[in-house]
Parts: sequence; structure tokens; C-alpha cells
Amino acid sequence: MKKLFVKTYGCQMNVYDSARMADLLTPLGYEIADAAEDADMVILNTCHVREKAAEKVYSELGRLKRLKDEKSGMLIAVAGCVAQAEGEEIIARQPAVDMVVGPQSYHRLPEMIARVTREKGHALETDFPADEKFDALPEENATSGPAAFLTVQEGCDKFCTFCVVPYTRGNEYSRPVSQIEAEARRLVAKGVREITLLGQNVNAYRGADANGNPATLARLVERLARIEGLDRLRYTTSHPRDMGEDLIAAHRDIAALMPFLHLPVQSGSDRILKTMNRQHTAAEYLRLIDRIRDARPDIALSSDFIVGFPGETDKDFEDTMALIRTVTFTQAFSFKYSPRPGTPASAAKVQVPEDVKDARLQALQALLREQMDGFNASCEGRTFPVLFEKLGRQPGQAIGRSPYLQAVHADDAAHLIGKIADVRIEKAMTNSLRGTLVEKALVH
Ligand code: SAH
Ligand code: SF4
Ligand code: F3S
Repeated sequence: MKKLFVKTYGCQMNVYDSARMADLLTPLGYEIADAAEDADMVILNTCHVREKAAEKVYSELGRLKRLKDEKSGMLIAVAGCVAQAEGEEIIARQPAVDMVVGPQSYHRLPEMIARVTREKGHALETDFPADEKFDALPEENATSGPAAFLTVQEGCDKFCTFCVVPYTRGNEYSRPVSQIEAEARRLVAKGVREITLLGQNVNAYRGADANGNPATLARLVERLARIEGLDRLRYTTSHPRDMGEDLIAAHRDIAALMPFLHLPVQSGSDRILKTMNRQHTAAEYLRLIDRIRDARPDIALSSDFIVGFPGETDKDFEDTMALIRTVTFTQAFSFKYSPRPGTPASAAKVQVPEDVKDARLQALQALLREQMDGFNASCEGRTFPVLFEKLGRQPGQAIGRSPYLQAVHADDAAHLIGKIADVRIEKAMTNSLRGTLVEKALVH
């Protein structure tokens, strides 16, 4: 057997793609290695969204080059969004790289490997044949554990002025309902109980139904919720503009749809939202949150924020803080604005100084931390059904997720991996909850 090591950066869609690349290479005799040192082939599945993420790739490539020098015959591939954005430049900057393959063309990896081993050159594939890719992929076998990702939508047509994703992932494309349903059924047959539907803009999903008509994400969720054994559904990432009435209603009507929503807002200032091209105001976002809470009062909300977008003043930043105070989030990701080549915002003449960005990020994260701690503390004494996913650090301990996506660990639960059991929350920790199994816990 040959060994394959895949290192994944960036979003959940990359996590999904990494698993599918491993699936593709299994028939070629590759099995998964735990470290690059043991591998005959290394794939870096990269992210281009912020400068730091992209730069990490080059330092990792330098390390891999030294490994390759010691170990002749090792293959290095760069996949993902840096591959798509930088293409041949990657090989120019690091000639030890054998293959560069974009997120929509990785189904061609087997022939690329054949080509570089035969001809000893480099191989580059950065086309956008999304439909072709999903048809060409083998059945998934690299998934493990009871909670899985399933990509249903790719690409983005929104063109927020800070973001590279529309360039690296291409136009919006939705997989047909039947293809997704078949994949979900195969996952469930392997023991999966929870599926997170993925898309760069997942609630813009418009895949073809059996009659060839476009189905919304709500309809897709409704269909998948009928699959026996599939107890939990989630989806990410959504855009406020695509939060349709039927999807909001699905949060009220479909029990399998978990009460958690990641809905990035980026800023609470209308002026900044406009220059970001987010296509909504702060008040519209707040109204949307009200409607979602009307449908599902206990829903836990998460978001993404950018501080220090070009031209952001103290007042704009205060508007963001005010929005956060109004909504109350249970989780969030926040970033300093990072100028990305080729995006409109990177050309802005007034960039916010680094120390101002730092101070704003700190203040924002402190507020979000307070909200998250408050939410977790409010869970003490409550009982949640937890889907146990893996063993914990202590003997006998298992770790799972609450319906609100909190990590929960419980003792004497190792036998419950892959099962859903009621857990009483005893204590809120920094990033997780500690609980005990309810006696005669409902286990299914
Ligand atoms: N499709 C998702 C976002 C994908 S990128 C959405 O629309 O929400 C994930 C997050 O990275 C974004 O929500 C944004 O907060 C952040 N991000 C994207 N480009 C960025 C940049 N240039 N600088 C800083 N953060 C950025
Ligand atoms: Fe990027 Fe905006 Fe598209 Fe999200 S919606 S992927 S932030 S362009
Ligand atoms: Fe990064 Fe590409 Fe995902 S840029 S966030 S890996 S879509």
C-alpha cells in the first residue's frame, strides 16, 4: 500500500473535498497516513480567504520540499482555493510541487498522478466543471463517525467586495436532489445520524427535483428528513438575502432540523454593508432574526464579522457592537479585514491601520465571548439529547454535540458513540459543556 497524507485548511467544504480526494485515491492503492513524514503523496487542500491562510501554504510547502529531497518519489499536490487562485504561480514559487488542482477539477487527480509519474513534469487543472466532478466521483468511503458533511451547493454569485470565494469557487451550482438523497442514504447506511449540508451559499440552493424543477433548500431538507435513521440535519453557510420564507418555516416544522443557524452579517453599519455589497441593511438583518425566532424561539444564532473594512469608522464599529447586543449570538467567527488580490475592496485608498483593527477585534470578541458564556451558563441544569461522536481524553468519556451545536462531554459514555442519549448539563466550561447521562437515558 502507498500512503496518502491530506492536510486541510479553510472551511467545511474543504473538509468534504479532502475526504472525497481520499476516496478517489483509494482505488489507486493509497491508504491514509497520519503525517507527511510517512506519506508517498501529500495533498495540501488550501484556503485563500485571508492572507494568513494563503501564506501558511508556502511555509508548509518549504517543509515538504525538504522531506521530498530526502525521500525521492514523494508526490506533492496543492488543491483548494489557493490552487484555483494562483495556479501556475505556485509551481513557479515552489517547483517541488507536482500537481495543482482546483476545487472543481479534483476528480481528475488519478489521471494527473499517472501523467506526472509517466512524464516527470507538472500537472495543472483549474477548470470549473462542477457537474462533471460530482458525476465522476466514486462512492464515499473516507467518512467516519456519526456526523458527516455533504456538499449540496458550490460557488457564489454574490461578489461581496472583500471576498475571493466567487473567484476561487466559481458560479453557483446546485447538485440535483436525487444525487444528494442517494449520498445521504449511503451515509446513513454506514451509521451516520447527522448530516450538515454544505454550500458557500447553501440557502441559495436550487437543485433539480425529480421533475427537473428547481427545489429550495427547505424542500431538500424536508425530503432528507424522511430518511429513516437520519435524526439530525444542519446546513451552512447561509446568506441573509437567501433566507426564504419556507426555510424559516422549516425551522418550525421539521423536527430533524436542528435549532442552530450560522447567518453571517459581517457588519452592523449600513454604510459598510453597502460598500461590502452585502445587499441588505442592519435593520433588515434584525427583522429577519425576529422572523426566525418567531418560527423557532430557542434557535441558537451564530455569525461572521469583519472588523477594519476599508473606511470603517469608530461609529461604524459601534453599530456592529450594537447589532451584536441586540441579537445575542451563541457562537461567532470574527476576523480582521485582509485585503485580497483582485477584490474591489483591496483597491480602496483608505485602509484601517493595523492597531485599530486589533483593538476593535479585541472589543468585539470580548462581547461575543460574554454572550457565548452567558448562553452556555444558561444551559446548566437543562437536559439535552446529545449525539456522541468520539471518545474524550479521560477513560470512558465521550464527546458529542447538543442540538445547539455545543460540544458536550460525559463520563461513562464510551459505549454510546454513534448514539443519541439524554445528558443533564452540570457545568459550562470555556468551549464545552460537562454533563452526566440521565439515568435510564433515552438512547436510540
Ligand atoms: N459564504 C460565506 C463566507 C465564506 S468566507 C458567507 O457568505 O458567509 C467565511 C468568512 O470569512 C466570511 O463570512 C467573512 O467573515 C470572512 N472573510 C472573507 N473574506 C475576508 C477578508 N478579505 N478578510 C477578512 N475576512 C474575510
Ligand atoms: Fe464571499 Fe459574500 Fe459569497 Fe459569502 S456571499 S462567499 S462572503 S462573496
Ligand atoms: Fe477558504 Fe475556499 Fe473555503 S477560500 S473558506 S477554502 S471556499
